Amino acid sequence: MNAREMVSVGIRRHGGPEALEVLTGPVPKPGPGEVLVRNHWIGVNYVDLQHRAGRPYPVTLPLVPGTEAAGVVEAVGRDVDASLVGARVVHAGHLAGCYAEFTAVRREHLTPVLPDVGLDIAAALTLAGTTAHVLTRTAVTAAGRTVVVYAAAGSTGGAVVQLAHADGARVIGVVSTQDKARVARELGADDVVVADGTPLAQAVRALTEGRGVDLVYDATGRDTFEASLQMLATGATLVVYGATSGPPAPVDIGRLSGLTADSVGTGSLGIRWVASGHYLEGARREAVTSAVLRDIASGRLTPRIAARLPLEAAVDAHRLLAGRSVLGKVLLHTSTKGISPS
Ligand SMILES: NC(=O)c1ccc[n+]([C@@H]2O[C@H](COP(=O)([O-])OP(=O)(O)OC[C@H]3O[C@@H](n4cnc5c(N)ncnc54)[C@H](OP(=O)(O)O)[C@@H]3O)[C@@H](O)[C@H]2O)c1
Repeated sequence: MNAREMVSVGIRRHGGPEALEVLTGPVPKPGPGEVLVRNHWIGVNYVDLQHRAGRPYPVTLPLVPGTEAAGVVEAVGRDVDASLVGARVVHAGHLAGCYAEFTAVRREHLTPVLPDVGLDIAAALTLAGTTAHVLTRTAVTAAGRTVVVYAAAGSTGGAVVQLAHADGARVIGVVSTQDKARVARELGADDVVVADGTPLAQAVRALTEGRGVDLVYDATGRDTFEASLQMLATGATLVVYGATSGPPAPVDIGRLSGLTADSVGTGSLGIRWVASGHYLEGARREAVTSAVLRDIASGRLTPRIAARLPLEAAVDAHRLLAGRSVLGKVLLHTSTKGISPS
């Protein structure tokens, strides 16, 4: 009997969107401790573009990219509770090969999706939502604090805006276009700076009577790092959590003191990198993912889905995200056509 076949999208060599190839191959078999998920919706994340390009995060090739999908459990491997078959689940945050009709996932990487949350919504917001939870809990947003969020109309930035706003912080969003400024305000930003050539730190200082802000959440990296430092109030923290424009340049930590000639004007500053995976080990992953799904159900977090494309059009999805004009999440959907029943 022929093995069941499925469609996936993979890369054999690093490159631009055209490096993504539509492939046909066998449906994976769940190993011990694994579950086979029939993916319905796949979230496209900026990190997928970085894996495809091979920088700044190295990956092993060939690779089926994708770190976020939601679907239904089709089968379980040894040592996994068989009653999971048929459960609606989401899995995110691991390079498990989500650009595929089926993915074999470690049981502990799955979270059940509440009946009132759509699988499309779960696939749109789990990675961004869990990251935003980790970011706003490790560098705490609260009433009385002013925070800057870059890419405030994007997936992760948009989720940080929503959680920081719900926590009572004053949120200043930074975006690249007026359309994105409108979206950032809808998500809860109190003020928005459009990065259209205006010196960013100056604009943020003008909004804070010269004081600067308590926290900056910056995943843009290289292009915004210096401005981020320059907009911090004394005692404030710059949280770097990505490198969308490339890795930030090295910094002389003396500049954080406020006491050296090239200090930024304020002092006792902190810089930390937060990678959400480090805060989502073991049972924490399911706890935080469940909290995100509850936030979705309660309306505290609302995804903004900008485009839904077939899996086979992953190349267009990458072009959309790289083009920087898309106003929300890009999702891929699978088709189960042509898959034999067993
Ligand atoms: N640390 C973690 O655990 C963690 C977890 C998830 C994501 N991340 C990181 O967070 C960042 C955002 O990921 P995401 O999936 O949520 O993407 P996204 O924000 O939906 O899209 C990327 C955004 O980055 C901004 N941008 C700045 N420079 C850009 C450039 N050169 N090319 C394209 N976009 C640029 C754009 O917003 P504007 O046009 O408004 O500037 C764009 O909307 C990525 O760097 C990702 O690796 C980190």
